[in-house]
Amino acid sequence: MATLHVLFACILALLICSAAAAESYNKKNQVPAVFVFGDSLVDTGNNNYVHTIAKGNFPPYGRDFAGGRATGRFSNAKGVADYIAQVLGVKQLLPPYLDPSLDLQELLTGVCFASAGSGYDPRTPQKMNAIPMMTQLNMFKEYIKRINASVGPERTQEIISQSAYIIFMGSNDLTNTYPNRRLPVHRRILHRSYDQPSSRLPQGKTRTRTRPTPML
Ligand SMILES: *[C@@H]1O[C@H](CO)[C@@H](O)[C@H](O)[C@H]1NC(C)=O
Repeated sequence: MATLHVLFACILALLICSAAAAESYNKKNQVPAVFVFGDSLVDTGNNNYVHTIAKGNFPPYGRDFAGGRATGRFSNAKGVADYIAQVLGVKQLLPPYLDPSLDLQELLTGVCFASAGSGYDPRTPQKMNAIPMMTQLNMFKEYIKRINASVGPERTQEIISQSAYIIFMGSNDLTNTYPNRRLPVHRRILHRSYDQPSSRLPQGKTRTRTRPTPML
């Protein structure tokens, strides 16, 4: 029994130490803000403000989110961009830059510029009127001007130089702009209806073979 107690105490001590270490690591390496560029895999709702068919603002998107509301994220709940901001210890959700209700504090800790349907090739976003990569970068330039006007050049410089930048796109270029049936990746995708929401599938069926739909 005594050995068990000692063992338990050791495990507890280890847990406390590692939690403290993780916290101090986060504090030491904390980035002031997170900026994400890309396509639907990281869009947290910019396409809600764009005239496009590539939307994530209807059920079952968002059904496991607070309130079960579809937010424009192409996910049942949080999206990859949100998790990146969370893991980096910045905030729980990374808001879309085009949301007009963002306050200064929200802007200073980072935003998402991604747009579903976008890609590196300028032709990729044209098909769905998504926000092209160049425009996402121009939005970032506009963002810099905005925060510079609010908090001044010194703080702006600090945020821009010390933050995390994540770019997550390319799959739409491969599937929509360069459809090459000989490419193994494209052949695999052609045989899947990968953007079918699971709740819309017939009972007892997990995969349907339908006409390929473009990736967003
Ligand atoms: C920020 O604003 C100042 C003027 O207040 C200007 O000189 C500077 O170039 C601006 N910096 C950026 C990055 O826009």
